[in-house]
Amino acid sequence: MKAITLNHLEKIEQTKIEMIDFYDSATNDYEFWSKDLNMHFGYYVPFKNNPFARNTMLNEMNNQVLNRLNIPKDKSNLIDLGCGVGGTIRYALKKHKNLTTFGVTLSSFQVKKGNALLKEKKGTIINENYNNTSFQTNTFDSALAIESLCHSGHKKESLQEAYRVLKPGGRFVIADAFLKKEESELCYGANYSHRRLCDHWSLTNLGSINNVKKDLERSGFKNITIEDISFRVAPSVLHVPFAIVGFILKKIVALNSIKRESLHNLKGSFYALLSGLHMKSFGYYIISCTK
Ligand SMILES: C[S@@+](CC[C@H](N)C(=O)[O-])C[C@H]1O[C@@H](n2cnc3c(N)ncnc32)[C@H](O)[C@@H]1O
Repeated sequence: MKAITLNHLEKIEQTKIEMIDFYDSATNDYEFWSKDLNMHFGYYVPFKNNPFARNTMLNEMNNQVLNRLNIPKDKSNLIDLGCGVGGTIRYALKKHKNLTTFGVTLSSFQVKKGNALLKEKKGTIINENYNNTSFQTNTFDSALAIESLCHSGHKKESLQEAYRVLKPGGRFVIADAFLKKEESELCYGANYSHRRLCDHWSLTNLGSINNVKKDLERSGFKNITIEDISFRVAPSVLHVPFAIVGFILKKIVALNSIKRESLHNLKGSFYALLSGLHMKSFGYYIISCTK
């Protein structure tokens, strides 16, 4: 029993180290994906966004998430749980002048780069685990998590921590890919894509949307709204093959080699596209709820 527990802990630790290495080394590659360093997929609004202009769709995702947080005009604060280099935080600060923001990430590279980009803005990024932050209970008016909780399998502990740091009445919005069924129910192709996606992007697993809803309820969240936005996200996912080819060509022309972490990132993007094709098994959702 003891050996199993130790093995399990070692495996978690190994995954954690790999995830940190992954972001410490591959974060700069995202400049190719988004000039604002948004490390997520986009949201397409017909007649508002140009489906060929990727970065505007990525910023639209920030906009959609922030809209659902109902941020007031007067002073308020927000935490981004798994903030990358603060792409969403910078967008939020431009949109809401009276906002103060914090972000947490496990990558020290992202802390340094993100804080440099936030210089003289009301935003701070710290090196902390979103499952167990040092913030006091009832601190924030709003919390968000874009494509970050998947690294911990959308597990209950992450949702409980979001609940803890929010003030009563505070809003929490998640934008991420989820399974539409239990992992054990996936067909061979979907299971293969899911596993390869997780291995290459250093994710534990994607949570199943029904279980995540139950865990949010058990954590105490109310007014839970779940929107399947897969078709809004699809136009930006279709940019993946072009982005991969463009990235590789750029490296070849510059006579640069491609790092192991960058290669993982490229393959992960490809498996994200492949997963997206299994529409009965995977969906991209925005979940909004209130403490
Ligand atoms: C795909 S990036 C998304 C970044 C950002 N939300 C965005 O959309 O630009 C995932 C982020 O989650 C962070 N992350 C993963 N696991 C974490 C954990 N346990 N605690 C804090 N941050 C974590 C990573 O460091 C990375 O910044």
